[in-house]
Amino acid sequence: MNMPLLEVEHLGFCYEKDKRVFDDISFQFRKGMLYALMGGNGSGKTTILRCLSGILSRDAGSITIAGRSIESLSRQECARLMSVVPQEHTIIFPYLVSNMVIMGRAPYIGSFSNPSEKDKAIAQEAMHETGITHLSDKLYTKISGGERQLVLIARALAQNTPIMILDEPTNHLDFRNQIRVLSILKRLVRDKGLLAIIATHDPNHALNYADEVMILHQGRIISRGSPQEVINSRNIKQVYAVDVEEIRKENLIRGVMPALDHLSRGNFTS
Ligand SMILES: Nc1ncnc2c1ncn2[C@@H]1O[C@H](COP(=O)(O)OP(=O)(O)OP(=O)(O)O)[C@@H](O)[C@H]1O
Ligand SMILES: [Mg+2]
Repeated sequence: MNMPLLEVEHLGFCYEKDKRVFDDISFQFRKGMLYALMGGNGSGKTTILRCLSGILSRDAGSITIAGRSIESLSRQECARLMSVVPQEHTIIFPYLVSNMVIMGRAPYIGSFSNPSEKDKAIAQEAMHETGITHLSDKLYTKISGGERQLVLIARALAQNTPIMILDEPTNHLDFRNQIRVLSILKRLVRDKGLLAIIATHDPNHALNYADEVMILHQGRIISRGSPQEVINSRNIKQVYAVDVEEIRKENLIRGVMPALDHLSRGNFTS
């Protein structure tokens, strides 16, 4: 049996006293799986992902990674196990794009050492895969929002970890690059047995790329399972108060789109 690589039990978190973002969330994440976390704005997706990556300390429950409690892991051990692409990232210092990506190798480079040829080759490969080689010598502060997103994804790829946590990785990306990034993740999950967890707002991304989907709503996971089980008009209506039409092919749901009366009404009221 494929043992869980990441295990969450009775997770609870609040930013402000007595105002729980979520309560009692339990989930097992296995290698070789791509999980999509969905839910409306403010439902707690980023907060969960930040708890999983150790950026936020939870108030309740436990998080176990590769059989060890998250607290028992050093920063370096964490960075060798998990790479994180955050939803928002501001950087003041004008690093070169190539240096930003090579930072993904930091967990493997001694404090007083320089990146090896192997580290540089891995970073170059990550830039090639994400299609940003032409940006190598540009400043991270002087490229577009979508280009910055690709740099962060390349940095995470260069980190070469068994777990990848990506908060809305397709944010800012054009149509082709959205598919490119999701396809890279899917291939790494399939070929290298990685565990990837993404937060996404696009039900069609969850439907077509995830192995398992979970929907967070009002502090609870209200639905989880295969994309075919979870992405349907009933769940979308419950979470987003939007009527959608299911696009089916050979009895499988291939996509959802807002129902025509939503599109033609012109004004939006739930
Ligand atoms: N730093 C913070 N301090 C206090 N409350 C916060 C903070 N960050 C988020 N929140 C609140 O916590 C809740 C969950 O926020 P979170 O960012 O996890 O949502 P999300 O599902 O990622 O939303 P989005 O889809 O907009 O990214 C929201 O009610 C939000 O207002
Ligand atoms: Mg978020």
